[in-house]
Amino acid sequence: MPDTHLLLGQTLTLAGDPFAAPVDAVARIDSRGAVLLRGGQIAATGTADDLRRAHPKAVLHDYGDRLILPGFVDAHAHYPQTAIIASWGKRLIDWLNTYTFPEEMRLADPDYAAAIAARYLDLTRAHGTTTVCSYCTIHPHSVDALMAEAQRRGQRIVAGKTCMDRNAPEGLRDTAQSAYDDSKALLEHWHGVDRLGYAITPRFSPTSTPEQLAALGALWAEHPDCLMQTHLSEQTDEIAWVRSLYPQALDYLDTYEAHGLLGPNGLYGHAIHLEPRERARLAETGAALVHCPTSNTFIGSGLFDMAARKAEGLRVGLATDTGGGSSFSMLRTMAAAYEIGQLSGTALHPAQLIWLATAGSAEALNLGDRIGTLAPGFEADLTVLDLASTPDIAQRAARADSLWEALFPTIMMGDDRAIHAVWINGAPA
Ligand code: GUN
Ligand code: ZN
Repeated sequence: MPDTHLLLGQTLTLAGDPFAAPVDAVARIDSRGAVLLRGGQIAATGTADDLRRAHPKAVLHDYGDRLILPGFVDAHAHYPQTAIIASWGKRLIDWLNTYTFPEEMRLADPDYAAAIAARYLDLTRAHGTTTVCSYCTIHPHSVDALMAEAQRRGQRIVAGKTCMDRNAPEGLRDTAQSAYDDSKALLEHWHGVDRLGYAITPRFSPTSTPEQLAALGALWAEHPDCLMQTHLSEQTDEIAWVRSLYPQALDYLDTYEAHGLLGPNGLYGHAIHLEPRERARLAETGAALVHCPTSNTFIGSGLFDMAARKAEGLRVGLATDTGGGSSFSMLRTMAAAYEIGQLSGTALHPAQLIWLATAGSAEALNLGDRIGTLAPGFEADLTVLDLASTPDIAQRAARADSLWEALFPTIMMGDDRAIHAVWINGAPA
């Protein structure tokens, strides 16, 4: 059978959330493991010996002692900001006005949007990321560009047209009505086609009028199976601005809830500086947060308390927030999450970091039954890690006496050189 592939290597399966159960209870490590792929799905996992015997005709890919993981899932990114990543010296609102909006304006050119979409998917794939949830720009063709490119690659992605009808420059503003109409048309065109999902995307409360938030809330009510993504409580200046723009609101989260934009398919990026009422409402409604650690240090936003949010029962994904985030790499993002955890008094275990970058982000996107776990029935998106990709990492990993100790130097110091192979939809990518 030509499309049956048998991958041999070390395998790591996380059968549950390592924040909710002891690592040893959820982690299965096979030092000589195997993953059988057929028809875009994981057909079986087990030991190399067992699966080789059972599937002698499968095409063999022997990765030695490299580590086979689910592909990384980046739960919050802005693909249009690819070319302005690592721009110096600004905080959020200033950074948006100085770097982000001028660059997003350039995507008015459909050819430029298509080139950036392809560049972004190339760069993220080189870092082992197989699924992203991305903002686009206000231009509907910026959604078409990313969706069409992902579709061509067989990739599962989620994306949506960014909506803004105030506090953005001329040329980057839509209206309440056009945001509704364009989002609806895009959603009807792309949502559920192949592996593509649509996310209704008001950028954040400061760049939407109450009328626009209400229009997008109405659209979400008509299509509750879509995700809704936005930003929440990233910087203290932003929160003060929201308070002045929405004097009736109880708090930042209430600006969304009052317009029908809070629910179990809601995805709230950053969510660092939350009031107790906001935390309680997010948990009650089953909403998901997305932690963007390299962005939070790079733009100077603050320290997200992962351990506290997980203890409150919230779903939390992990993300680069490219290009407010300073990297395309989920390895670098895990390292930053570890460092922020340390500053908040919790050392996240390597199993928790890997889980956040795979199943945790998949769960935040409500895709946890399809991607993010190395188990039969899941979609065949895989990343194969070289745990000795550079001399500095190799010399540390050589001292390790467990997989966790061998993996952690790659989490902390690894980059695209650690990505040995990527599989998307059951095929080498
Ligand atoms: N808040 C509103 N828009 C953005 C954005 O593009 N990046 C970040 N980091 N925060 C935002
Ligand atoms: Zn963002």
